[in-house]
Amino acid sequence: MSQATLSEGVYWVGAVDWNIRNFHGYSTHLGTTYNAYLVVDEKIALIDTVKAPFYDQMLARVKEIVSPEDIDYVVSNHVEMDHSGSLPMIMREAKNAKLVTLEKFGEGGLQKTFHSNWPFETVKEGSELDLGKRKLVFVPTPMLHWPDSMCSYLVEDRILFSMDVFGQHLATSARFDDEVGLDVIMPESAKYYANILMPFGDLVGRALDKLGGLGIRMVAPSHGVIWRSHLETIVNAYASWGKGETKNKALVIYDTMWGSTEKMAHALVEGIISEGVEAKLYNLTKSDQSDIIKEVLDTRAILVGSPTLNNGMFPSVAGFLCYVKGLKPRGKIGAAFGSHGWAGGAVKAIEQELGQAGVELVDSDIAFKFVPGADEIQKCIDFGRVIAKKVAQ
Ligand code: FEO
Repeated sequence: MSQATLSEGVYWVGAVDWNIRNFHGYSTHLGTTYNAYLVVDEKIALIDTVKAPFYDQMLARVKEIVSPEDIDYVVSNHVEMDHSGSLPMIMREAKNAKLVTLEKFGEGGLQKTFHSNWPFETVKEGSELDLGKRKLVFVPTPMLHWPDSMCSYLVEDRILFSMDVFGQHLATSARFDDEVGLDVIMPESAKYYANILMPFGDLVGRALDKLGGLGIRMVAPSHGVIWRSHLETIVNAYASWGKGETKNKALVIYDTMWGSTEKMAHALVEGIISEGVEAKLYNLTKSDQSDIIKEVLDTRAILVGSPTLNNGMFPSVAGFLCYVKGLKPRGKIGAAFGSHGWAGGAVKAIEQELGQAGVELVDSDIAFKFVPGADEIQKCIDFGRVIAKKVAQ
């Protein structure tokens, strides 16, 4: 088993999950890691654990450094079970350890999850845990991404254990950002932010303000690689995503029954790109929803199309819009389109959902019967141009 050393006496002792492809509905094409860290000082602290099936990996790494009985503190930065899942096992093994968790929601969340009478030591904003030559300070980051979430900061080493914040679902044999490359890490960071943290942009901004004053030199998240060389890149990206900043880009997202809505989608794309604006097209049956959400993160426009089925939209479109609504994207304009046979219904239903998602609707008139003719295709191209002009404003 190989650990990694973050600084003297600070080790990565987590686990690599190479084969996970679905993380509670989020596609993880590149797998993930569950990062746990061990700080060995006069006192020994294990910061977070790993998903339960990976406990043996973590334990083997810990045992190469210390005996589990010598662990003084197990710090639980987050109740979610990809990080807390091994607590029942490690708390049995680390017989002398106290379980450090956030007073508000942390202790209660762990008790309601594991129903165990562990020796809790609760902390709050600014609480310090003396490890001897160094100390951990705790920084609550509520809703990033559960109410109990907190970061732990190792002051003397200037290492922030940032929990889900700044993470990526990325399984690699390398542990640090400069060993992998930003071309791989940043798209996964964006996808992670979009699918997990997008609803909490304001809280991200507040967390960055709080963390900005600490003088951090390394960020060790709970998934993916550790940031030691490109900290500024990821912090700037979070600041931008948190504010809902967008690029000159439009997405055309649809499903189709007999190809009519698809023809309209392609015509919209043609109109958008004819104005020099980037467009991306996604058929919801063929594309992965969490990959599309990564694109939603920084797009300015979202055009959503569906044929009418039973007076409403396709279930695939409804499912996607339900997901978008929950993620509360910021700063978007959008419109609906689609074909129908007799009575329509899908376009109105999509408009309603987009509106509820906070998307500013652009007036459109692109709901056509059966197969769109040349003049109707031209209307789609023209509407694509309208959208492109608004995007470029
Ligand atoms: Fe990686 Fe919110 O747990």
